Amino acid sequence: MKRLVIATRNQGKVAELRSALEGTGFEIFSLEELAPGLVVEEDAETFEANALEKARVVSEALHCAAVADDSGLSVDALGGDPGVRSARYGGEGLRDSQRCEALLRALADVPDERRIARFHCVLALWIPGRPAVCFDGVLEGRIDRFLSGEHGFGYDPVFVPHGYDQSLAVLGKEVKQRISHRAQALSCLQTHLLGLRSEQAAH
Ligand code: IMP
Repeated sequence: MKRLVIATRNQGKVAELRSALEGTGFEIFSLEELAPGLVVEEDAETFEANALEKARVVSEALHCAAVADDSGLSVDALGGDPGVRSARYGGEGLRDSQRCEALLRALADVPDERRIARFHCVLALWIPGRPAVCFDGVLEGRIDRFLSGEHGFGYDPVFVPHGYDQSLAVLGKEVKQRISHRAQALSCLQTHLLGLRSEQAAH
């Protein structure tokens, strides 16, 4: 079976991607399993450029297919920040909960109706010898006034999806797998991978 490596060190992302990619005809590995020392810079200005670069570097280093996720949170009242810098918002070396708190402080004076935000996710698939492809997803919502819930990762404790009144970290895995930005992009990626599998089976 051909190998597909999930080109991220973020264990929250690995968990959300792995189960969806199993059953697509590839043997799935995380970057930690195949190349724990490999470092990929993320300094592009768009989710797509970052995702493509991560997938390319990992695929070329390991000579196998790679999927990379670049994602983040855009807050309207902050002019779209933290955006592509979501993983570093508030400073280096912070825990996820400290980044959430930094975001809440930045929005302390912003009224409820202006706390609009959205998660973006771009998944890039890099298969040696084939054109690279990207799939994306967006989840609309708002930033709460406090952290709540234990599930998920990143900004899940302060993000309330549109149509719900609890944070993603309270709503949990089942809801997130149904509605999230990553779930939307993953569903397109799954369809694409299954198409490749049928194409190969036909040859
Ligand atoms: P990057 O894609 O490695 O640049 O990191 C994206 C960052 O955006 C993560 O470290 C999280 O802080 C945030 N993020 C992306 N997706 C999610 C999500 O599904 N829930 C919560 N935070 C997320």
